[in-house]
Formats: sequence, structure tokens, C-alpha cells
Amino acid sequence: MKVCVVGTGYVGLTTAASLAFLGHDTTCIDLDAQKVDTLRAGRCPIYEPHLQDLLDQAASHLTFTTDYATGVPDADVVFIAVQTPQLDSGNPDLRHLRSAAESVARHLRGDFTVVVNKSTVPIGSGNWVDAILREAYARHHGHRPDGQFAVASNPEFLREGTALADTLYPDRIVIGGDNQQSLDVLHQLYRPILNQSFTPPTAIPRPAGMSAVPLVSTDLASAELIKYAANAFLALKISYINEIAAVAGKVGADIREVARGTGLDPRIGPRFLNPGIGWGGSCFGKDTAALKATADEYHLPLPIVTAARDVNHRQRGKVVDRLLDELHIIKGRKIGILGLAFKPNTDDLRDSPAIDIANLLLDRGARITLHDPIAADRFRREQPTLAEHLTDHVDDVFDDADAIIVATEWSHYRDLDWAKHAPTMRSPLILDGRHCLNANRLTELGYRYLTMTT
Ligand code: UDX
Repeated sequence: MKVCVVGTGYVGLTTAASLAFLGHDTTCIDLDAQKVDTLRAGRCPIYEPHLQDLLDQAASHLTFTTDYATGVPDADVVFIAVQTPQLDSGNPDLRHLRSAAESVARHLRGDFTVVVNKSTVPIGSGNWVDAILREAYARHHGHRPDGQFAVASNPEFLREGTALADTLYPDRIVIGGDNQQSLDVLHQLYRPILNQSFTPPTAIPRPAGMSAVPLVSTDLASAELIKYAANAFLALKISYINEIAAVAGKVGADIREVARGTGLDPRIGPRFLNPGIGWGGSCFGKDTAALKATADEYHLPLPIVTAARDVNHRQRGKVVDRLLDELHIIKGRKIGILGLAFKPNTDDLRDSPAIDIANLLLDRGARITLHDPIAADRFRREQPTLAEHLTDHVDDVFDDADAIIVATEWSHYRDLDWAKHAPTMRSPLILDGRHCLNANRLTELGYRYLTMTT
């Protein structure tokens, strides 16, 4: 099939690379000419494991352009995967989505094109995009559309760091639309993934035992709400275990064992029960805010989602409280932060807990040293003020430090020569914000090992 993807961020590029790998001729449109040049030169502009490989392997099925006229007219499916950043109101900013939809409408020429909302958009946006397409189509073509296109929703559930495996081997594919033909086209597009009939890329093997992927084919609003309901649930699962971790700390229980013993109940499940400094990233904060903003429009309070957000926000401040308990005075202390990305295997810094923690420590008068093995360059570009505290050498983080906070569980940090670093610290105190280090070994090496609750 012929596919067009508008927007080459994490979602757009992962979708395009995966569909091209499956043999669909895919055109990617981005208005950022520099990004398009980078992609045309065969280089991947974002850090995502295996994405460069897959773009190389699928190169013969991929075209990159800034021009809607190159990709839209022939496309069977157009994915709109532009950014929808959060506004102060909690609602996403839909300006890019509107202008992308207008540009798509101007270039629609085929007999039937499915226009898919791949960006995470508020519930009801399918109708909104449909209205924009219709208006722009009529304005440009001089007549109202008559079955030339239909809007569908196809939310993504990919996680940064494992985006390609999540796309090729998903738990489910959700498609939503009020037009059966559009759902049939998407069903056909995804058939190789639904049947798992493709030969996996060597670097991204198929999980053992996986044979078919469930398809949820539904109406527009349900597909849109599934995305929010899933992300809000994951966010509150993490906040829940962090709330229980606070109780565990008081009663002397081991939260890792509590999480394991709780998660083995299949009704609960073991995943997303890792306690620590809480969630960040581009989705959970934004999506829970957007869900609340939508519910507000209907005068519906969402106390559970609100509590999940509050608990998560408080975790960041608790890091400083934890250090205060131990050091008593923060002013003038040298504190290192290992890890700036919101999670490992990505250079994404959006809503990263490490950034809030760094600012809170500076507000308290601490001297800070920051390190990340992958996200440092991006940090310099996106956080120029904090970047003056950044170092490329992990030794600098330890040197004369009063405490180290592990904010991102990079494997790089697990494998550090911890024995070498202990004597270089003023006081060898480690606050493991991700429960990722070997507590016994660090204690043997002379560190005082802390978590958020112990
Ligand atoms: C998330 C959803 O998982 C994905 O389905 C959706 O499409 C986009 O949002 P992502 O933001 O890439 O994906 O990261 P995820 O792996 O979900 O982690 C989010 C945050 O939660 C990270 O900061 C991570 O460190 C934190 N986390 C995750 C925990 O603190 N504890 C856990 O048990 C799991």
C-alpha cells in the first residue's frame, strides 16, 4: 500500500520505518527542512535503539520530503503524527494538527484515502479533524468532498527505548472510525503485524511464542479514549506503588518484595510496579492533564487521576527531603545526579524528574553536578542554564560529592567501578531513585545506600 506519514518525531518515524520495513511505500513529510536533509542523508535525527538500522533496511521504500504534494495525492493512508504539546490549560495545543490537516486536504487526489490521527489528541478530535479536512477540501477543490476520504483513529502504545519492538510486536492494535471502509483499509495495512507473517529484522527478534495480535476495531471516540485510559492507568499504577512504598518505609517492609508479591496476582500484573522517583516523559503527564481537561468540560472530577498526578509530583520533592534527613543541611553541599533522561535508552528529557530535582537542589543552595551517558548533548541544547552543571566525565560527579542521586537506571551506571569512586566522595552516600543498584555490594564497598523509603 502507499502510506504517507506527516511528522517525523518518535511516533511518526517509528511508524514510517516499521511500515516501510513491511514493504509499504512510505513518504514522510516534515516541515523542518534540516531534519528532512538529515533523513535523506540516511541519518536518524533521534536516539531510539535499532531505528537507524530499520531505516537503512527499509530505505528503498522510504521517501523524505517537506512537500505535501509528494506524499499525499497517491496515499491510501495518511498518518498525522505531529506534535501536540501541552498548553497551560492542560489541553494539548492542536495548532500543528490543524495546519497538517489543512495541508493534507489540499492535496487529497485519490479515490479514497484514510486520514489517521496518530498524534495523541483529545477525545472528539477525530470529528474535529474531519471538519477541518472537509472545509479545507471544499475551499481548495471548489466542491464538497463526496466519500474521497474518511478519518480514523489509531492510537500508538509505543514506549521510547523499545518503540520498534512495541510497533512490530504490539499487545494489540486499536483502530477507530465511523466508516467501515477506513477500518478495512487499516486492517489490510496492519495484516502482516496482526498475523505476524513478516520475517523479523535480525536485531529485533519476535518474542517467543507470539503468533497473532488482537485487533480492537471500534468507533472514533472509543479508540481515542482507550489511549487516555491506558496511559492514565499506567501512570496511576506507578503512583500507587510509590504511595505503598511510603508505607513500606514506615513499617520496615521491603517495597521490592511487596511489589513482587502483589504483582504476581495476574489481576494486578508485575509490570509498572517499580517504585522510585516517579514517572516523566512526554505522555503520562500530558495525557493525564488532557484527560482531566476533557472531563472538566463535562463537569466530571477525576479524583483518581488527579491523585496519581499529585503523588507523582510530590516524589520529586521527596528526593530533596530524603537528602535533608541524611545531610541535615543542603546549602553548600555538592550533590551529583546520575541520569537526566526520563528513562533509560532514550535521550528524551521531556518532564524528566531529574530536571525538577536539579532545580529544587539549586533552590536550596546545593552545588550540583549532572551526568547522562546519552542525553548530554540534547540537555545542552534544551536546558542551557542547567547545562553549566553538566559534565561528560562520571568521575567529576563523584569527586568530593556529599551525595549522589541515581535518577535514570542506565545500565552504564550499574556497571560503574563503584569501588574506585567511593574514596573520592566526601561522604559516600547514594540515593538510588530507581532501585537499580546492588544494595549489598555498595554497602560492602563502604557506601551508605538509600532509596526513597529506606
Ligand atoms: C508511555 C507508555 O508506556 C506508552 O504505552 C505510551 O504510548 C507512551 O507513554 P514512555 O513514556 O515511552 O511510554 O515510557 P514508559 O516506559 O511508560 O515510562 C514512563 C515513565 O514511568 C518513565 O519515567 C519511567 O521511568 C517511569 N516508570 C515506569 C516508573 O517509575 N516505574 C515503573 O514501574 C515503570
